[in-house]
Amino acid sequence: MNHPSGPRGARHAKIALDVDGEHRTLEVDTRTTLLDALREHLDVTAPKKGCDHGQCGSCTVLLDGRRATTCLTFAVAHDGARITTARGLADGDELHAMQQAFVEQDGLQCGYCTTGQICSAVGMLDEFWAQHPSNVTEDLTAPPELTDDEIRERMSGNLCRCGAYTNILAAIRQAAEA
Ligand code: FES
Ligand code: FES
Repeated sequence: MNHPSGPRGARHAKIALDVDGEHRTLEVDTRTTLLDALREHLDVTAPKKGCDHGQCGSCTVLLDGRRATTCLTFAVAHDGARITTARGLADGDELHAMQQAFVEQDGLQCGYCTTGQICSAVGMLDEFWAQHPSNVTEDLTAPPELTDDEIRERMSGNLCRCGAYTNILAAIRQAAEA
């Protein structure tokens, strides 16, 4: 990574990202968010810009395996990172179990929030299976149970303007049981 000064003191950096299994390099203004780097510099449009304030979750990807809101972090902070978007979850033409479940359970209406919901759901289940507690886990000394309240709490950072929550819940439950 280097930091040449640009016009009016702007600073730029060359970084590399692994995006959905592809090695990508780019040069960004150091103030560029990871979301803008993906969408505007690399044409990776699976993560969506909803609020741009970390409140809706539509920009969620898996960042080195953990879910992250890409509008809240600078690209330059993630030189060398591995990013998986909802597109990269599929194995060729074969959908990931979570993608298949969203289709089968009709977990989307307009689809705007869906890529973030799916990435968040995959990351959320990994956290759950690693026995991370949530705010609604009552017994912190025992493995948590995947109740509807647990799923709702763990997915509460992902908003859906269409209100497809009931079917999103059903989709996550289906994928968890697959
Ligand atoms: S666009 Fe990132 S959380 Fe809303
Ligand atoms: S399906 Fe439209 S915003 Fe969620």
